[in-house]
Amino acid sequence: QTQLRGDQVIVVSNREPYIHEQGPEGIVVRRPASGLVTAVEPVMRACSGTWIAHGSGSADREAVDRHDRVAVPPGVEDYQLRRIWLTPEEEQGYYYGFANEGLWPLCHVAHVRPVFRESDWEAYQRVNQRFADAVVAEARSEDPVVLVQDYHFALLPAMIRAQLPQATVLTFWHIPWPNPESFGICPWHKEILQGLLGSTILGFHTRFHCRNFMETVDRSLEARIEAEYSTIRFQDKETLVESYPISIEWPEPATVAAWPSVAQCRQQVIDRLGLPQDLCLAVGVDRFDYTKGILERLNAVERLLEKAPEWIGRFVFVQVAAPTRASLDEYRSFQEHVERVAERINTRFGRPGYRPVHLLAQHHEPDAVNELFRAADIGVVTSLHDGMNLVCKEFVAARDDQQGVLVLSRFAGAAREMTEALIVNPYHVEETADALLRAATMPPAEQRERMVSLRSTVREFNVFRWAARMLADAGRWRLRARVEARV
Ligand code: G6P
Repeated sequence: QTQLRGDQVIVVSNREPYIHEQGPEGIVVRRPASGLVTAVEPVMRACSGTWIAHGSGSADREAVDRHDRVAVPPGVEDYQLRRIWLTPEEEQGYYYGFANEGLWPLCHVAHVRPVFRESDWEAYQRVNQRFADAVVAEARSEDPVVLVQDYHFALLPAMIRAQLPQATVLTFWHIPWPNPESFGICPWHKEILQGLLGSTILGFHTRFHCRNFMETVDRSLEARIEAEYSTIRFQDKETLVESYPISIEWPEPATVAAWPSVAQCRQQVIDRLGLPQDLCLAVGVDRFDYTKGILERLNAVERLLEKAPEWIGRFVFVQVAAPTRASLDEYRSFQEHVERVAERINTRFGRPGYRPVHLLAQHHEPDAVNELFRAADIGVVTSLHDGMNLVCKEFVAARDDQQGVLVLSRFAGAAREMTEALIVNPYHVEETADALLRAATMPPAEQRERMVSLRSTVREFNVFRWAARMLADAGRWRLRARVEARV
């Protein structure tokens, strides 16, 4: 951040960092549970600037504020939030359509067929242009630093560059990038690539995604790839393609000291859900999304109870599944399918006073999630494909008692860093069931050894490191550009 002191920082993301809602006693401000906000907000607070976002969560525009601009966070007001209000048609085409029925399944190889409609693509282009115009309107100089977040804004970097050629555009793609054949399915893959190559720096979570991106460009555009320097030169403009594994904000000691003890958390969860006292508790916390492998983990729980019947009555799996994108058919039918499978397992193995699966299909506030993580014996993350996945990092951050076992999908970017987890292929039911069993019987000393190491990884490679590395690269880039301009 020091390299950018004095420079203007503008963030663009689809989601707002704060939601204003009309409650019975006036406007209430809520912070949504989003990995992206957790990751980017510390940067904004450190270098006050402007965050531009779609006013999506603040559904009732009139109720929120007649102004499009508010100072946040509440009470601290470190930076400005500027909302872009989309029409229902724009939201449908840009967000639900192109971003979430097109790019999301395209980039997550999770066997859901991407849908590409001409009208969605038009809305996506239009909305990207609206955000580009907002960035230009907010810019106080010719060369602001603009942080563009995610697959909702693939066209934005080139649109910003067209109007502010001196801007430093840092784009971070929070989801995976697939291989060139898969990406080529998108009828507008060239336009997307050209849009992204307007970035000064384009970040992914892993080297693997960077390589996929460079190969995709190589196959589709007349561009010069310099693999050695990880740069792409396209139409006389250079883009650095680099990996920056995202992380979480490591909790402060004072925050941890204020948490209820692990024993208290466990008792509260047992009482609230009516669980048996002497139990092995496995917990999953996800958005209710087909990429998260929720069905696969239920199948693994069922298999565990089949092959190790001594756990019937004692093994409980609690899945928090926060509803998401629920107006899309694919999400609705996925949710129904998961509910049916959970019911089947409960009918098969349940008995009075015991239900092996508790499916909590509601949003849970961060404190409630933390309580569950502290109460658990096992944290389960079985994504079929995930850019990074922050849930597994939050789970280890919650365990200052150094106990608990993480079962983690090898298809989450996080598996590359969190090697002391029990790494599984979620498509392999038997393997996942065995990992759950191994976790259930792991001696405390081995749990401690693994947890200590996982915690030190996440503590060190926290979100500040993620942001600092990206901003340091941007700072170096700006310095070079200024020196070159003087020569
Ligand atoms: C993923 C995406 C984010 C997105 C989040 C929640 O993590 O990378 O950009 O905000 O999911 O999805 P939603 O559609 O509810 O914003």
